[in-house]
Amino acid sequence: MNKIAIFASGNGSNFQAIIDETEQGKLNVEIEILVTDKPDCFATKRAKNHNIPVFSFVPKNYASKEEYEKEIASVLIEKNVSLLVLAGYMRLIGDVLLNQFRNRIINIHPALLPAFPGKNAIQQAFQYGVKVFGVTVHFVDEGVDTGTIIAQECFKVEGKETLAEIEQKIHAIEYELYPKVINTILS
Ligand code: GAR
Repeated sequence: MNKIAIFASGNGSNFQAIIDETEQGKLNVEIEILVTDKPDCFATKRAKNHNIPVFSFVPKNYASKEEYEKEIASVLIEKNVSLLVLAGYMRLIGDVLLNQFRNRIINIHPALLPAFPGKNAIQQAFQYGVKVFGVTVHFVDEGVDTGTIIAQECFKVEGKETLAEIEQKIHAIEYELYPKVINTILS
């Protein structure tokens, strides 16, 4: 069975969607570990609730990104992980992980890239007044939400929707799209 690692920094609702699909047998993977740079984030609690091991680290306790990524890489190699799934991991991936897992790191972003990369993408798009919102899954490279696009899904708005309504719709799309893409990549 394919072994994956999830990387998250916050709520972890995408992580939860992946756990749920796995437990329901719809997603054919073993979630070997959660990697987080925020030891107290809610994603960590979700991992514990489902007996998923956690590798948490505090970046400022390391001399450099290279140092903590070396530790992450050795844990992932030891666990035989074949895909790194970023799900709200709000940190750039560095050379150590990129070189070790080239083309085996994916990310989900709540906008139609290349528009609105970075943080608060839904808010950025809402403030801009776009009429088509969406979600992108892409391979990770050294940039912020750059890298080859694997899948996108979109929906139109009329302009009357609230930010909260749009956020909800985007997250609902994410929860369906990400497990589907993981299945496709690994099969
Ligand atoms: C998700 O909407 C994800 O697309 C976004 O962070 C959220 C994490 O939510 N990622 C980015 O903005 C990456 N640039 P979650 O922790 O509840 O899954």
